[in-house]
Amino acid sequence: MKKILVVYYSYEGHTEHVAYVIAQELSADVLQIKPIKEMSTKGFGKYLWGGSQVYMKKIPKLEPISVDFSKYDTIFVGSPIWAWSLTPPIKSFILNDYLIDKDLYFFYTHEGGPGKVEKSFKIMVEKKNRFLGTCGFIPPKNNFDLINQQVYDWLNLLNIEK
Ligand SMILES: Cc1cc2nc3c(=O)[nH]c(=O)nc-3n(C[C@H](O)[C@H](O)[C@H](O)COP(=O)(O)O)c2cc1C
Repeated sequence: MKKILVVYYSYEGHTEHVAYVIAQELSADVLQIKPIKEMSTKGFGKYLWGGSQVYMKKIPKLEPISVDFSKYDTIFVGSPIWAWSLTPPIKSFILNDYLIDKDLYFFYTHEGGPGKVEKSFKIMVEKKNRFLGTCGFIPPKNNFDLINQQVYDWLNLLNIEK
């Protein structure tokens, strides 16, 4: 039987939380994307470092991925928003061509300024996949429980077979 996979990158845990709520609800497997070189600050410097990675259009090398993507026909991809854009690790993941002929859903967490990230994601994946839905979440800082209901509501709308 084909299964569902939730792929995500998360620097501070918010996108990771959403990924795990989705995975639990849909009995899906989870894959965390990790760049080989991760930034080390959680202070203001993260905006400078992360933002500069976006502006310089960096495509970072990722830690090895050993998932057999042929096992999955439905894949959720999750990213935080950095500088109104997809994060560089998620761009790397997409450009690596793991996603071919999949039913794709995109989710993201942000603080109110997602930019045109839904359109960017769609453009990057739609030639080789079916792009079926997207949702953004603004997680209250350090109150992960509050986001759960929004995730449940989105999944109910999608009506995905478990
Ligand atoms: C480098 C950097 C840039 C960011 N740029 C934006 C932005 O342009 N718009 C926005 O709404 N939030 C922005 N944020 C906030 C994050 O998108 C938000 O806190 C997100 O939930 C973090 O996800 P994570 O905890 O999974 O890393 C930025 C955060 C970082 C670290």
